[in-house]
Amino acid sequence: MKVGFIGFGEVASTLSVGLMENGAEVYTCIDGRSTRTRNNILQTGVETYPTYKELAENSDILISSVVPSKAIEVAEMVGKYSKGIYVDINNVSPKTVVDTLDKIENGKTVDAAIIGSVFKNGVNVNVIASGSFANEFADLKNYGMNITVVGSVNGQASGIKLLRSSYTKGVSALLFESIYHGYKMGIDKEVLKYISETECPDFIESAKSRIISAAFHAHRRSEEMDEIVEMLSGKQDPVMAKGILDFFKILGENIKKPEKRPTDYNEIFEYLMKIKE
Ligand SMILES: NC(=O)c1ccc[n+]([C@@H]2O[C@H](COP(=O)([O-])OP(=O)(O)OC[C@H]3O[C@@H](n4cnc5c(N)ncnc54)[C@H](OP(=O)(O)O)[C@@H]3O)[C@@H](O)[C@H]2O)c1
Repeated sequence: MKVGFIGFGEVASTLSVGLMENGAEVYTCIDGRSTRTRNNILQTGVETYPTYKELAENSDILISSVVPSKAIEVAEMVGKYSKGIYVDINNVSPKTVVDTLDKIENGKTVDAAIIGSVFKNGVNVNVIASGSFANEFADLKNYGMNITVVGSVNGQASGIKLLRSSYTKGVSALLFESIYHGYKMGIDKEVLKYISETECPDFIESAKSRIISAAFHAHRRSEEMDEIVEMLSGKQDPVMAKGILDFFKILGENIKKPEKRPTDYNEIFEYLMKIKE
């Protein structure tokens, strides 16, 4: 099995190690890439083709793992050369994934979405897939990947990922707002304790981690919420998603991203109180 990657960042390098350990041949292309990406390629020891055309012509499965804003551009670049199955695994909206996969002339396409962190879970990270060739892509389970087929239409996997993401960001935003106000009143621990009685046993620890992540990734989350609001916009105004978008926009503007992830939410709340009150 020959697996090609367009883009060789965290996703491609992590999945490659697991795929090769399980017997797959992994390829990429170095052309035009940064020092960071070149180092990833060297460290992982995957083979390279000199051009994206050759990469596309020679891969049984070609996975696009670039940055979301380049998903369409790279699909257009290889669209007429891709001989095998083309998989878009980028964090993009269902509409963008459909537009992206439309560029692949042989029509052998898959919409895939990573659920969870590649860094934490390695090749075993949950990947959901939809599209007419999703079952063939799922053959990579024989090479160590953890893929679940969720539908036969492009856009379904990305839709699940985005709606789940809207939900989890919404919960984090609500927690942040409630516990920050509790903190200012000196009752944050009690608020957490009483919410935990209606939630799961490890709620307090996960709530603290969510509050910290909300602040640490506020800017990126506001960009992701923009995509979600766009996807949900229609006759029924997505008021909840818009509220979550505003929350992360304001938080991102108020807070400067620290070098290191804070270990305690007190640090974040103290900073906000100093600049806001
Ligand atoms: N990391 C995760 O846990 C995770 C989870 C879910 C989804 N995702 C999604 O998976 C995708 C990849 O994520 P990542 O964490 O691997 O990103 P990353 O570490 O930022 O790597 C992105 C890679 O894409 C390359 N690239 C950018 N523009 C390109 C172009 N025009 N042609 C070819 N290569 C290009 C970059 O090369 P240069 O360095 O040369 O720019 C880099 O190698 C993203 O869409 C992300 O949203 C990631």
